Amino acid sequence: MCGIVGAVAARPVAEILLEGLRRLEYRGYDSAGMAVSNGNTTERLRRTGKVQALADALAENPLSGHLGIAHTRWATHGKPTENNAHPHMSGDRLAIVHNGIIENFEVLKAALIKQGFRFTSDTDTEVVAHLLQAELNGGSAILDAVNTVVAKLEGAFALGVIQMDNPGQMIAARKGSPLVVGVGIGENFIASDQLALLQVTDRFMFLDEGDVARISCDGIEVWDQAGASVERDVVRYEHSVSSADKGEYKHYMMKEIYEQPKVLAAAMEGRLSNGRLLEQAFGAGASEIFDQVKQVQIIACGTSYHAGMVAKYWIEDLVGIPCNVEVASEYRYRPVVLPEGTLFISVSQSGETADTLAALREIKDRVLASLTICNVPGSSLVRESDLCLMTNAGPEIGVASTKAFTTQLVGLLLTTLALGRRHNLSEEKETEIVAALQQLPELTRQVLEMDKDIELMSQSFAEKHHSLFLGRGPMYPVVMEGALKLKEISYIHAESYPAGELKHGPLALVDKDMPVVTVAPRNGMLDKLKANLQEVRARGGELFVFAGCSEQVKPEEGMAVLHMPEVPAILEPIVFTVPLQLLSYHVAVLKGTDVDQPRNLAKSVTVE
Ligand code: F6R
Repeated sequence: MCGIVGAVAARPVAEILLEGLRRLEYRGYDSAGMAVSNGNTTERLRRTGKVQALADALAENPLSGHLGIAHTRWATHGKPTENNAHPHMSGDRLAIVHNGIIENFEVLKAALIKQGFRFTSDTDTEVVAHLLQAELNGGSAILDAVNTVVAKLEGAFALGVIQMDNPGQMIAARKGSPLVVGVGIGENFIASDQLALLQVTDRFMFLDEGDVARISCDGIEVWDQAGASVERDVVRYEHSVSSADKGEYKHYMMKEIYEQPKVLAAAMEGRLSNGRLLEQAFGAGASEIFDQVKQVQIIACGTSYHAGMVAKYWIEDLVGIPCNVEVASEYRYRPVVLPEGTLFISVSQSGETADTLAALREIKDRVLASLTICNVPGSSLVRESDLCLMTNAGPEIGVASTKAFTTQLVGLLLTTLALGRRHNLSEEKETEIVAALQQLPELTRQVLEMDKDIELMSQSFAEKHHSLFLGRGPMYPVVMEGALKLKEISYIHAESYPAGELKHGPLALVDKDMPVVTVAPRNGMLDKLKANLQEVRARGGELFVFAGCSEQVKPEEGMAVLHMPEVPAILEPIVFTVPLQLLSYHVAVLKGTDVDQPRNLAKSVTVE
């Protein structure tokens, strides 16, 4: 999704902006651009494709100046062309970058055309540039112009604005899209994400909804939605700077898969003691809220939704209260019934997903309380929820989520414990689950040792166009996640089904060209699953099985079996996810796709 970087400094800013864009590449984009002001002119360069194309262009035509904004665009209005790339300008003195969607841009555009403004792009963003220029033409100062214009905008936006007549300052505004101010010494910055600025600062100020800020070398002034001057806290970045680098790995995704033993431990750190959960980890007032919970509503998108689906099995089994799970893009737009005592749980890696955030805002006042399971401190979901449990996975750069998912599962299991102790979960059972959780980093490490075998297995997939993923019980969402990973990064069509549904339709697809992947832990459903696998074998389908117990599923012709370590049943959804991540990764590498930035996808989906 679009990424913004801006800088005002005593030193030239072009390189800082370029490095910032590189660090935002993970968000997904299709063009990039930069505008730099040197007091006399504002120069702009834009390129379609990768940030490297912009870097090459800059090497030929350097932009020099101490004030600048830059952008990676993920096309929403208009194709990914150079004309549509940001920054957008009105005249040659004003440049803006924008993340989000201006929903009323057509009406505004029509009015601007009548006033004589000429549009050179198909974007909604250019409307904002001309609206600002219209205000400046009428004699407004830039800050007043921004305030007037944002009041006219409907939709979501984070904006960075520079004006040549004010070479020492930039204006930032945010409503609905993330924007953070990077606090330097004698220089300041803005960006969509802290990661973009870690090369220049580790201190950040998060702007609130509706905030407008004026940023110069030696000051940051912020005004809230009502126009009142406000102070926003400056916080230090919590993760080590190196956690955002690729290190020895070829791809961020692989690095993030391999980080799982460490981050799964971090997801539990300080939250377990003497075999029990410390529920203060959920924030002040958590215990009083948990006391009143009668049912749970989980909302999320994509991978995070799959984590929520696993939690439904845990909550209904171990807590014994109803738990509904729904994708945010549906939930937010339908009339929903919210029984008394509903705990609303949002699950999100980024904490900025537009649909999840909108769902929270929609029902916030109608539920007992809201809890977010999130990976990004200071994100909108964290700030707007009553309670939060940080997943502590560290920055996830690969667009395809891996460590964020497994740490979300830990967060959701801890939530299950908190709720369970008020309902069906005995103290002995809680202690048993805590003991199991403590084995999780080591078990995950053992699964990573299977990597070479999984890489070998992946060779059978590289030529295939379709695949089927089967699972039963809580392993059904696990195979949903496995199928999503495969399609995201290898572009192989992958469908997931509860194995029991096979004979109700998808069996018709099975033949020798349709590999069927399944996870088969030793649980009460194994015999039923094995019967489903026989149905596949009987139709010539090739099976790839991650099995839990060597005696029960044996390899045979047309059926490759890899045996997993013995895993406590409660941890199976977490541990069995890892081989599916590795399988997708190796298939994608064999196919030569852009593993970390798969086509058409964005890391943080901050538009609808
Ligand atoms: C898939 C993936 C996406 C995200 C989804 C929600 O690998 O990463 O499906 O899970 O866009 O994002 P968050 O978790 O940031 O709300």
